[in-house]
Amino acid sequence: MVCATTPVAAALGGPVLGIETSCDETAVALVHHGRVLTNRVATQVPMHRRFGGVVPEIAARNHLLTILPTLEIALEDVGLTPQQLGGLAVTNRPGLIGALLVGVQTAKTLALAWNLPLVGVDHIEAHVWAATLHPPEDKAYTPPMLPFLALAVSGGHTSLYRVEGPGRMALLGRTLDDAAGEAFDKFARLVGLPYPGGPQVDFHAQAGDAKRFALPKGMRGRSDFAFSFSGLKTAARLLIERLQAEGQAIEGQLLDDLCASFQVAVVEQLVRITTQAARHHGLRDLVIAGGVAANLGLRQGLALACQAEGLRCLPVPLAYCTDNAAMVAGLGEALLNTGLRDDPHTLDAVPTGLVRRAIP
Ligand code: KG4
Ligand code: ZN
Repeated sequence: MVCATTPVAAALGGPVLGIETSCDETAVALVHHGRVLTNRVATQVPMHRRFGGVVPEIAARNHLLTILPTLEIALEDVGLTPQQLGGLAVTNRPGLIGALLVGVQTAKTLALAWNLPLVGVDHIEAHVWAATLHPPEDKAYTPPMLPFLALAVSGGHTSLYRVEGPGRMALLGRTLDDAAGEAFDKFARLVGLPYPGGPQVDFHAQAGDAKRFALPKGMRGRSDFAFSFSGLKTAARLLIERLQAEGQAIEGQLLDDLCASFQVAVVEQLVRITTQAARHHGLRDLVIAGGVAANLGLRQGLALACQAEGLRCLPVPLAYCTDNAAMVAGLGEALLNTGLRDDPHTLDAVPTGLVRRAIP
C-alpha cells in the first residue's frame, strides 16, 4: 500500500477538521494554530463492554451510524461552514480495518465535495503530537520543545520516540510483547473488573497498598529501551489464582491492594526505561501520550522521576490522552503546514500502520 503524497506550498485558510475512527471512539475535532476549538468524542465503550473488548464489526457499524452526526455537532460547536475550513485530517493507520475505513471514506468524500486539502495521519504519532495542543481552558499550558522524547502508551502500543517534528519520529524502543494498556486490560479481567480495565485499575489502585504484593518490574540490565509485560502478567495471574484457591474473594481492600501492586510494577518499568532513554539521548523534555498516559500513578511517578533528574515532564492533557480527534486535527494541521497533501482519490486505510513516505 502506498499513500500518494504530493508536497505543495501550504497556506491553510482556516481550522483543520480531524476525524478519528481507528478503534471504538467516533471522534471529530477542530484545531486552529494548535488551539483546540472543539473536541467531540462519541464513545462505543458501553457497546463493547459485555464482550470484554472491542468487537471490530460492531465498531465499524457504529462508526457508520455516528460519524455524520458527530461531524455536524462539531461544526455547530464552532459555528463554521465547510467553506471556512483550512483542511481535513483523518487517522488512516494503524487500527481496525473496518473502523478505519469509515473515517477514511468520510474524509475523502468531504475533501472532494468541499474542495479541501486532505492528510492521512498515523494514530500513534497523533497521540504524541497531542502534547503540543493548547487546551482552551488552560492558559498556562507549556508545549514541549523539539526535539523531545515521547513515551506512547496505549492499548496497542508501548514505544519510545525521539520527536523531531510533525511526522518525524524515530523509534528508540518498544515492547517485546504486550502493550501497557493491554496488560492493564488483561489484569483487570483477571480481577473481575470491566473493560476497559486501565481506568478501573487506576481507580482501585488509589485506595490500595502497592507494597502488599511484590510483582516483577521486568526489563532490568538491558540497554535497548525495550519493555515487557508478559512476565508481570503471568506473575499476577499466578498470584490471583493462589489467592482464589485459598478461598479469598477478590474484592474490597484485597482488590485495591492487587491493583496498586500491579500498577506500581507497570509504572516503575515505564518510568525507569523512559528516564534512561532521556539521559542516553540527551533529551530534556519528556512527553507521555496515549490512553495509559491518563494513569494517575504514571503521571505522578514520571513527574517525580523527572524532578529528580532535572527533566521536564509534559504529560498530554487528560482530555487528549485516550482516543480523540483533536490529536488528529492537531497533527494534520502541522503536516498540512509542511506542505504535505494526500490524494483524496487514493488515500487508503492501513491497519498495520506500515507506510513509507517522505516528509517535505
Ligand atoms: O489510546 P487509547 O484510548 O486507545 C488505543 O490507541 O489503544 O488507549 C486505550 C488504553 C486501554 O488499554 C485502556 O485500558 C488504557 O488505555 N487506559 C488506561 C487509563 N485510561 C485508559 N490505563 C491505565 N490507567 C488509566 N487511567
Ligand atoms: Zn489510541
